[in-house]
Amino acid sequence: MSDPDVLARYRDFLKDSVRLTVDFSQTAQSRGVPPPPIEKPFAPGARRVPLPRPGQWKGITRIDLLDAIERRRSRRRYSPTPLELDELAFLLWTTQGVQKRLDRGTALRTVPSAGCRHAFETYLVALNVRGLEAAIYRYLPLEHELLFERTEAALATHAVAAAHAQGFVGSAAVTFVWTVIPYRMEWRYDIAAHRVILMDAGHVCQNLYLACEAIGAGCCAIGAFHQEAMDSLLGVDGQDEFACYLASVGKV
Ligand SMILES: Cc1cc2nc3c(=O)[nH]c(=O)nc-3n(C[C@H](O)[C@H](O)[C@H](O)COP(=O)(O)O)c2cc1C
Repeated sequence: MSDPDVLARYRDFLKDSVRLTVDFSQTAQSRGVPPPPIEKPFAPGARRVPLPRPGQWKGITRIDLLDAIERRRSRRRYSPTPLELDELAFLLWTTQGVQKRLDRGTALRTVPSAGCRHAFETYLVALNVRGLEAAIYRYLPLEHELLFERTEAALATHAVAAAHAQGFVGSAAVTFVWTVIPYRMEWRYDIAAHRVILMDAGHVCQNLYLACEAIGAGCCAIGAFHQEAMDSLLGVDGQDEFACYLASVGKV
């Protein structure tokens, strides 16, 4: 075990005492700095894939919430059956879908977020989705589209390596990687931002677990990964945006 003093220092991260140390009259929001974009910008003309919209999904049946909660389990064995694009669209919407734009810097989504700051971007390591080239994509929640990011021959191998050799990432149809853009939360909460970002992440992944139960898919949260390798796989800078939490998904 680490030194008790070191443990005590790290435990402090779990406490909300940090809030009392923030001068909320001096946050970027209070100083009138415009809010950061809701969604990370992308180049005009970038390759995008439209997704079936809520209400247009085929093959998604309504299931009882109690059944979904009762059945939920972390599942690490996936069948070779591909995920349908409709199913992927459903999972993306249930985890980060935008329901209502309130103003330039705020939108209500299907998950809660401290101060409605929604500091995550959703990347997908898509390996087995019908009709979708195996590649890394980013979900565009405002457009409800996928943005093609990049691909490479050994994508599955690199994804497994970046997940600390957790092999089931290689047999998953898709692995969700939620990156965080901390400034979106810091703009409002300064150094009290980071604790609530991690709380937000739990809400997102829980929706994924439950939504997977509705489509005969399994999900496994992944908190253990190689930070630098994952950031480099996604092509994010590791400072202003970096991987925060993962979850693999596949048919069971
Ligand atoms: C924050 C978090 C991180 C996790 N990280 C991993 C992981 O890296 N690898 C893994 O196989 N499972 C991971 N899990 C899944 C847990 O092992 C699993 O939830 C736990 O064993 C209980 O099983 P259940 O989810 O089926 O109830 C993680 C779960 C959570 C909530």
